[in-house]
Amino acid sequence: MKTSNDRIIGQEIVDDRESVTFGANRDKDFSQEPMCLSGRGVTRVFRTGRITTVAVDHVDFDFHKGELISIVGESGSGKTTLSKMLLGLLEPTDGHIFFHDKLRDISSGHKRRQYWKGIQAIFQDPFSSYNQFHKIDSVLLDCINMRGGKSLPKDQKIEMMTEACSFVNLKFAELTNKYPFELSGGQMQRLMIARIFLLKPDILLADEPTSMIDACSRATILDMLLNLRNETGMTVIFITHDIGLAYYISDSVYIMEHGKFVESGPADKVILDPQAPYTKRLISDVPKIHEAWDLSTVG
Ligand SMILES: Nc1ncnc2c1ncn2[C@@H]1O[C@H](COP(=O)(O)OP(=O)(O)O)[C@@H](O)[C@H]1O
Ligand SMILES: [Mg+2]
Repeated sequence: MKTSNDRIIGQEIVDDRESVTFGANRDKDFSQEPMCLSGRGVTRVFRTGRITTVAVDHVDFDFHKGELISIVGESGSGKTTLSKMLLGLLEPTDGHIFFHDKLRDISSGHKRRQYWKGIQAIFQDPFSSYNQFHKIDSVLLDCINMRGGKSLPKDQKIEMMTEACSFVNLKFAELTNKYPFELSGGQMQRLMIARIFLLKPDILLADEPTSMIDACSRATILDMLLNLRNETGMTVIFITHDIGLAYYISDSVYIMEHGKFVESGPADKVILDPQAPYTKRLISDVPKIHEAWDLSTVG
């Protein structure tokens, strides 16, 4: 894969499609795979005083086992609100979410914790995701314990942590006594992926996981998400405002505008033959999006 900067990835979509080495599993028909997470009419309305915002407006989706899905939309289109509903951090005000073909039930603390064994997230800002007072080995140890490995011998736990770190090109031996704030943004994001490697959820939701880090680390993170999907068969939901990254990484794409999905389908179909005017505009904006990023790197 390309590990140069994103602008090249973006331009290649427009200028030089054939030369991109796609990480995604484009030939596979994921509709034949078991359903992992789906939604019908999923809606979230916020009411603050007299103002009503329909952040997510009756969206339908079907995410299958092992599929890598991107949800693409500009800032304010409802991506984070949808992510929070998928994670069970926010209830839909209308519609239903199904987990492994069953209506999702997170009505008690116990059921919610069970659900979170099946779905985990990495966020835009890796610094906010850690308890800064816990050393890195305890961050990773917690993951092993959560997966029922509490009584494993110490050697085996160290072996598992070492393997998880090497999966993301970090050296466990160098990290054991460090705190999260001693790492760079890129290293933190890789540590997040190491956690996911240990937790092995069915679904990983990544909300703009690359927007706070430099372009080079960004390509590495995308590569690692792809490896994670390829090695574990995890379903990965990648949330981004960047249709170039979405095309690069995903099997399927959902385009979100003002809380609605205006277009969805296989990445090749949606991006090479867009139907909705909004999708066409996002594609024509790709080089511009990257220029803005180069200046600010803020999502
Ligand atoms: N807690 C909230 N209360 C009121 N409005 C909200 C809240 N969260 C999000 N919104 C509104 O919902 C819309 C979608 O926001 P968001 O889901 O954050 O979009 P995105 O992640 O695509 O930028 C925006 O108009 C935002 O202002
Ligand atoms: Mg957001």
